[in-house]
Amino acid sequence: MARLQSCPPLAIRSGHDGWLIDESGRRYFDSVSSWWVNILGHTNRRITEAIVNQANELSHVMLGGCTHEPAVKLAERLSLRTGKHLGHVFFASDGSSAVEIALKQCFHAKAIQGQTARTRFACLRNSYHGETIGALSVTDVPLFQDSYRPLLNDTFIIDSPDTRLDNEDAALKALADLLEKQGHQLCALIIEPRVQCGGGMSMHSSDYLRRVRELTRQ
Ligand SMILES: Cc1ncc(COP(=O)(O)O)c(C=O)c1O
Repeated sequence: MARLQSCPPLAIRSGHDGWLIDESGRRYFDSVSSWWVNILGHTNRRITEAIVNQANELSHVMLGGCTHEPAVKLAERLSLRTGKHLGHVFFASDGSSAVEIALKQCFHAKAIQGQTARTRFACLRNSYHGETIGALSVTDVPLFQDSYRPLLNDTFIIDSPDTRLDNEDAALKALADLLEKQGHQLCALIIEPRVQCGGGMSMHSSDYLRRVRELTRQ
């Protein structure tokens, strides 16, 4: 509450392109795109028109038992982006929900294969995957986790690669050790590909990802 008084929230009235305008007309450059949601700019005309056109046609219908053309088109475009390697799309409403769904699907797939002992997930040290309970369990940022520790699942945290530290081989060795010793409990490993933003923009090579896939396939 003290912080709220000393640093009250900005009352924003409108936004255009990269700028936010407050109630008194003062302009602020939105350098984080309001937490990277508005990367194409505020009140982007094409996006606004598409939302209005769609809302006039069909604002929402459940995807349980129904489908509609925009959902099919988006699914097909996403699949194309993977070279049609991934042929099924499950829509979520935000990043954390997408992570929850992915974790559940991995567990479900293992359970169907009869591998019910695989109840644990692994993530990279300092990784960030969201703040719902499952997503927070595969996050390694104490600031977000500390208040909820007793609610979180017991996740394997493995060393993170970081090109600045030239440690990809060591990070792969840590993964190989985990797989050897506790792989039988592992359901899935979650990685933010190429750059771990929450870990201070630590980057890794696509070769690291390829080698991770080889190890997890074995
Ligand atoms: C890598 C990663 N995963 C998951 C999330 C969670 O997304 P959301 O904030 O939409 O729940 C974020 C959010 O920044 C993210 O950067």
